[in-house]
Amino acid sequence: MSSVQKIAVLGAGTVGSQVIRLIEEHQADLAARAGARLQVESVLVRDVNAKRDFEVDPALLTTNANEAIDGADIVIELIGGIEPAFTFVKRALGNGSTVITGNKALLAQHGAQLYELAEQNDTDLYYEAAVAGAIPIVYGLRESIAGDRVNRLVGIVNGTTNFILDQMTTTGATYEDALKKAQELGFAEADPTADVEGLDAAAKCAIMASLAFHTRVSMADVTAQGISSITAEDIAQAAKSDMVIKLIAVAERSNAEGKEGITAAVYPALIPVSHPLATVAGAFNAILLDNESAGRLMFYGQGAGGTPTASAVLSDLVAGASHRVLGGHAPRESRYAKLPILSPGIASSRFQVSLLVADKPGVLAEVAGVFGQSGISLITVSQEMAKPGEATRVTLSTSATSGKSMDGVLAKLRDLPVVVEVASVFRIEGEA
Ligand code: NDP
Ligand code: HSE
Repeated sequence: MSSVQKIAVLGAGTVGSQVIRLIEEHQADLAARAGARLQVESVLVRDVNAKRDFEVDPALLTTNANEAIDGADIVIELIGGIEPAFTFVKRALGNGSTVITGNKALLAQHGAQLYELAEQNDTDLYYEAAVAGAIPIVYGLRESIAGDRVNRLVGIVNGTTNFILDQMTTTGATYEDALKKAQELGFAEADPTADVEGLDAAAKCAIMASLAFHTRVSMADVTAQGISSITAEDIAQAAKSDMVIKLIAVAERSNAEGKEGITAAVYPALIPVSHPLATVAGAFNAILLDNESAGRLMFYGQGAGGTPTASAVLSDLVAGASHRVLGGHAPRESRYAKLPILSPGIASSRFQVSLLVADKPGVLAEVAGVFGQSGISLITVSQEMAKPGEATRVTLSTSATSGKSMDGVLAKLRDLPVVVEVASVFRIEGEA
């Protein structure tokens, strides 16, 4: 084989170090698949002396970004964050290099500009690793389902939060201990706020929604709520209703209010134990696509971690290298539909509301009356035995209603003198 593709790897942390290891270990197979020898020429890091999961040849390590980027055929960006990654990726695309990145924050904020830059320079941008680790959801949306009409997608797309909620549910671990373990295992972002506040999932939601609905959806279009306020009590309460709490990303077409558009949001939801997302444990991810012709498709696998994510990077590497050798391009950005982004408040679902109320006769009727006046049916109502003189917990689940209607009900409930506190409100996923 005479052809060689020169590669610069920017970042040799959890993911980058595994990419470098796998390129080295599977050199012959990767070359046969790509049609070119894949030669790592430089590895950009902050500290050339830092201890790494895989010992990178010291001769490849550099702190000089421009030297690493310029002259590379393929640049793999695995630094994370917006800057300096944005500057590096722009430089690489400007040079006409193929860029592969796992950086969802960068794509969800500046994806449009990067796609345009790739087109202007007749090169390609690949990002399979940016959404759900090893799961081929970017290929799935960008290519496999490109001829169908996606109506809705819902997924668990953040390994850290799924790991935390799973540990809290199955082992009774505290939130803090579970987060610490996720960080040790390399799932969490450099700043775990992005994980626990739902921002990492929101970035992935924006990328998936853009591909699914052929519309530019950016980070700012996705409403995000995280898991930092979920309590052990919420988890216990969910279990009593045969449900588990999961942080989910939801993007769907909507015709509510007579206007076609899409909604996109990330929030902790109650998932019935019989739902396929309920059994997604640890740092695993899963995405369900509801399509007009294909029906439901489920993508499942490891959503985080060095080696699984490196697998996604290597699939992009094989595709990118073979396009450089044989010609052709990755799919360009498809944004022709230009659907408006609507408020997620119009999305309809069942809800579960937990209230602390005064323990006296007539309270349940008063509370139920508020739902009735708003045209919302109650499906279940349960009340705990109160200790004398203390407030009692009433948990109600509703029929499907919009978030907007539920906000109206909650405002009225808070005004009722018998309601001490609205303890929790969750959407229930998967039950109409
Ligand atoms: P790490 O924090 O483990 O590694 C980051 C690497 O980038 C380190 O090698 C670091 O150098 C280098 N780096 C950071 N800043 C600079 C800079 N200014 N100049 C040069 N080098 C720099 O990150 P991960 O490997 O976990 O993540 C990388 C990307 O992959 C992120 O975009 C992340 O969102 C994404 N991703 C991560 C997953 C995971 O499970 N970890 C899963 C899917 C995607 P040094 O080693 O010297 O400090
Ligand atoms: N921090 C991310 C997660 C890494 O926990 O899912 C994978 O994108």
